[in-house]
This record gives sequence, C-alpha cells and structure tokens, in this order.
Amino acid sequence: MMTIYGVVGYPVEHSLSPVMHNAAFKALDMDCAYHKFEVKGEHLQDAILGARHLGFGGLNVTIPHKEAAIRIIEPDRTALEIGAANTLDFRQMKAFNTDAAGAIDALRDSGVELDNKGVLVLGAGGAARAVVYGLAKAGATVTIANRTTAKAADLAAYMRSFGSVFGTSLDSLGEKVRAVDVIINTTPVGMGWEDKPMVTRDMLDRSQTVFDLVYKPLETPLLREARAAGARTVDGLSMLARQGARSFEIWTGVKPPVDIMERSARDAL
Ligand code: ATR
Repeated sequence: MMTIYGVVGYPVEHSLSPVMHNAAFKALDMDCAYHKFEVKGEHLQDAILGARHLGFGGLNVTIPHKEAAIRIIEPDRTALEIGAANTLDFRQMKAFNTDAAGAIDALRDSGVELDNKGVLVLGAGGAARAVVYGLAKAGATVTIANRTTAKAADLAAYMRSFGSVFGTSLDSLGEKVRAVDVIINTTPVGMGWEDKPMVTRDMLDRSQTVFDLVYKPLETPLLREARAAGARTVDGLSMLARQGARSFEIWTGVKPPVDIMERSARDAL
C-alpha cells in the first residue's frame, strides 16, 4: 500500500516540499506520495494524530507550528534543545529537527569548514535558533546580531550551553562583518523586491561566505552584494533541499538523491 507523507503549515500553499519529496520518491521508484495540508493552530494536534492513525509515514511541520509540534510528539534531543521540530516520524513516534543539520550540510557541501570559524548570524527568531544551534555544535564562534538587541542577547545566553555564542546589535555592522568568515541571514529581509540588504559589498571580500536562508528570490539583494564582492554564496534552496533530504532519510532509512531534490525545487521556483 502506498505510504503518505506531507507538510502541515499555515499558510502552506507555496511549499516546495511536495515537489522535492515526490521527485525523490520517483527517482527511487518508491510507492509513496507527499502532499501539503493547510492546518490552523487550533487543529494541529487533531491533524497530526489523525494523520498518524490514518497510517501516514510522517509529516513535515512548518511555520507557524514548529514549536507546538514538540508538545504533541515527543522530541529527540536536538529538537528539544532547539525548542522546535520540523519532522515527525510516526514509526518511531518521535519529532526531529532537520533545519539545523540542513543549514550545516548546505555550508559544508559548498566547501565551508566551520570548526573554529567566526560566523555572524543576522536575526534572532525561529530560523536563527536552529542555525545558531547547528553552528555552535559544529565548533564555530557565533555572533548573533539583531535589530532588537535583547533578543540576540537572550538567544546567545541560551545557546552558550552548546558552544561559543555572543549577542549584539546591528550597530557598526561593517566592522562585525569584516571580523568573521561566514555571514548568514536568517531574517525575512530580501523577500521584498525593494528590500535593502543590511550587508553591502564594501563590507565583504573574496575570502568570505555569505549564506541567505531566503530563497524567494533565489538571488537575494544580499547574495548579489556578496557575488559583486567575489565572496562565496550559498542560497536558501541549498538548505531547503538538505533539511528535506534529512527528513526523507529519517522516514525511509534511505539517503535520497539530494541533487534531484534540489533541482526539482529550483525548477519549480
Ligand atoms: P523566523 O521564525 O522566520 O525566524 P521571526 O521569529 O519572526 O521569524 O524572526 C524574524 C527575525 O528577523 C527577527 O530577528 C527580526 O528582528 P526583531 O527581533 O528585531 O524583530 C528580524 N527582522 C525582521 N524584519 C527585519 C528588518 N526589516 N530588519 C532587520 N531585522 C528584521
């Protein structure tokens, strides 16, 4: 019998996960299908438990449900420490977070080493939590710079249990950018066509890597600045495909072709 997977979110209409996972199922000739399900917060628990009892293999959980998910399905250690899950596996009845590892995989697959490297993370919201956790565990020295400085300080204080993490404001950003090897944007800045990037080409050089979690547009204004400065760039689809590949492996035990997943998402975009 066909095994069903899916993503629950609100909104979820523009999710690229169905395209990616269905491309992998097809490439591997697996009798599985992946759908998207728009679910409001007040129905999240019913939807998740219903999917489980209907015999689904698992679910991805996206915005705004990632934090609530770990109160419905028991999280593994990583999801518990991050405080959010994006992958539910109904065979193991466990909630996982593949966002942190997906971000680290995207950097490593681009040739970026993180151990003992300096990383500046812009933003201190939900996306930053997973990324900072992954970086801290990978041995990077992380500086979180946020518009609301207190949020950067709070997140840094929490993440210091897992590695070397500091919090700061967005003031004198040029100096902060020049002091690190890798700059990562976890804020929504860049999604809007008129958004001005916080980091500009004059702050960057060729030795640095700039990674933007935003994938729509694929080349954000920030990545354009990075390219103009000759810096290495990593885009948000690279991470999206890799967090998806890790979910796929949790569910099926099979390592999917991440290149096929990534290409299908790029084509769909
Ligand atoms: P997500 O879950 O996607 O990370 P979030 O939790 O709402 O979303 O966090 C958004 C982050 O982007 C926050 O760090 C926010 O800064 P504040 O904490 O000061 O609100 C940051 N952010 C959003 N819009 C921004 C802007 N125009 N300039 C700078 N930072 C911005």
